[in-house]
Amino acid sequence: MAYALWQYALSPFIRAYAIRPYIEMNYFVTGTDTGVGKTLIACALLHGFAAQDKRAVGMKPVAAGCHAGEQNDDVFQLRAASNVGVSYGLINPYCFLPAIAPHIAAQRAGVIIDFSVIAKSYQELAAQADVVIVEGVGGFRVPLNAQQDGADLVLELGLPLILVVGMRLGCLNHALLTVEAIAARSLTLAGWVANVVEADMALVEENVAALQQRIAAPLLGVVPYMTQADARVAAKQLDLELLEQD
Ligand SMILES: Nc1ncnc2c1ncn2[C@@H]1O[C@H](COP(=O)(O)OP(=O)(O)OP(=O)(O)O)[C@@H](O)[C@H]1O
Ligand SMILES: [Mg+2]
Repeated sequence: MAYALWQYALSPFIRAYAIRPYIEMNYFVTGTDTGVGKTLIACALLHGFAAQDKRAVGMKPVAAGCHAGEQNDDVFQLRAASNVGVSYGLINPYCFLPAIAPHIAAQRAGVIIDFSVIAKSYQELAAQADVVIVEGVGGFRVPLNAQQDGADLVLELGLPLILVVGMRLGCLNHALLTVEAIAARSLTLAGWVANVVEADMALVEENVAALQQRIAAPLLGVVPYMTQADARVAAKQLDLELLEQD
C-alpha cells in the first residue's frame, strides 16, 4: 500500500521525464556578415538561458583577430556571458592574431583547421552544460580550410541555426541567400533575430516585415540600435519559447 502511494505521488514526474524526450538546446549562431551582432546575440541567448536556470556556455571555434596571449574579444564576451567555467582553449580551439579571412590566417600560421578538434571541444562543452551557443566566424559560408567552410562545420556539429540579420541596407539579399544555403543543406533554421546595427537604418519595420514574409523560421526578436550595446538588454527582446516549440 505504502509503495503504491509513493508510486502514485511520483507518477506525474515519472511521466514527464519518461515520455518527454530530452530536448537539446544547443545552437549555432550565424550571421548575414561579419560585424552584424553575432556575439551580442549569442551572449543575449546565454543570458536568456541562464535566467531559466540552465547551465549555458558559449563557444567560438575559430577566431581571427586575437591579442597577444590568445585573447579574442568575442571569446572574452562569450565567457563573461556563460555561467559554466571552462578553459579558454575549450571555448576557442583556433585563434589567429590577424583579423583576416580565417583560412588565410590559418595558412599563414601553418595550421590546418581540423573539424574533429572542434567537434571534440564542442562535445566536452556539451557534456558540461545544458546549452551550448556556438558562434560562427563571419557569414555562413566563410572558408575555414582548403576544402571546408562554415556551413560544413554546422553539418559536422549537427546543430540547428539561429541567424542574426544585421539590419542595414543590403541585409534582405544577404539574409535570404543565407536562408537558402541553410535549406540547401537540410539544416534546421530554428529562428532568426533582426539586430539593428545601424543607428540611422531607415524603415526597419518594413524590412523586418519583408523578411518575416520570406523566412519560414520564427523571428525571435527585434533588437534595437543601442548607443551602448548590452547583451542583457538585448536578451529582453528575445523570445526563447519560440525555440522550444521545435
Ligand atoms: N543592436 C546594436 N546596437 C548597437 N550596437 C550594436 C548592436 N549590435 C551589435 N552592435 C555592435 O556592433 C559591433 C559588432 O557586433 P558583434 O561583435 O556582436 O558582431 P559579430 O557579428 O559578432 O562580428 P564578428 O564577425 O567580428 O564576430 C560591436 O561593436 C557591437 O557592440
Ligand atoms: Mg563576433
